[in-house]
Amino acid sequence: MTSAKSKYLLTSAGDLGLEQLICLSELLDDDSTRVLGEIAQPGWRCLDVGSGLGTVANWLAERTGDVVAVDLHPDHIRSRPGLEVRRHDIRDGAPGGPFDLIHVRMVLLHLSEREEVLRQLIDSLKPGGWLVDSEFIGPPLQVVAETEPGDGELFNEVVGMCCNRIGVASGISYTWAEEVDSQLVAAGLAEVRSRRFEQTFTGGDAGGRLFRCYIDQLETRLLAEGITAAELARFRDVVLDPRFRAWMFTNVVSMGRKP
Ligand SMILES: C[S@@+](CC[C@H](N)C(=O)[O-])C[C@H]1O[C@@H](n2cnc3c(N)ncnc32)[C@H](O)[C@@H]1O
Repeated sequence: MTSAKSKYLLTSAGDLGLEQLICLSELLDDDSTRVLGEIAQPGWRCLDVGSGLGTVANWLAERTGDVVAVDLHPDHIRSRPGLEVRRHDIRDGAPGGPFDLIHVRMVLLHLSEREEVLRQLIDSLKPGGWLVDSEFIGPPLQVVAETEPGDGELFNEVVGMCCNRIGVASGISYTWAEEVDSQLVAAGLAEVRSRRFEQTFTGGDAGGRLFRCYIDQLETRLLAEGITAAELARFRDVVLDPRFRAWMFTNVVSMGRKP
């Protein structure tokens, strides 16, 4: 792996990081456990990469009894029997393998080294082992109901700025979600398939609160990009207002099995 590593734009540390992880868990755990529930078997050795809150790692540990959960900030991961938690940068390799199942959710899109990390993860699978990667497709997001005329436009302007300007400049890829399927085929995996999960959110629920976390973490950069403090204040009100409704980022879950 290259010595000059990219920097993870957001942080899972602190209250803001914790709230972000709670929102992701509320939004995505049903999708993840639905897919993993069709694959994971008792006795399997598993790796959960960038576990965040660790809810999926805990679910996997209950199902399989043998999970390693790694994260740059593993402090929020609740430990339980069958789950080993490690503070670890996945760009330094997959510790504790080989694995029957590796699960990655909302991590590789953040890493400019994503293709190399994916290759290393596949190398760490046992023959017959599964890789499952879950990633967001980026904006624009369709607004279903505005609070006031113009709020939908403001919402997409700010989200677009977070993703397409600040995120992309930091090495995030919002097209990666749609590339993973082909990457898994190119890496020689079998039984490759992808599923899209789509849902709306309502201001104040996990989706709205997630956007609030994003702009709180990126506020300084958003102001530097020309978004005004008044626009950010309005954005905060909008995503917490139950009259505002919009589609969340599409969650693409791709999987494949090592021959
Ligand atoms: C967007 S959060 C997703 C958390 C969790 N997978 C989920 O979907 O709820 C990304 C997580 O990956 C972790 N992370 C980022 N870069 C990492 C790296 N290089 N190695 C290990 N973990 C990393 C972050 O600390 C954070 O907890």
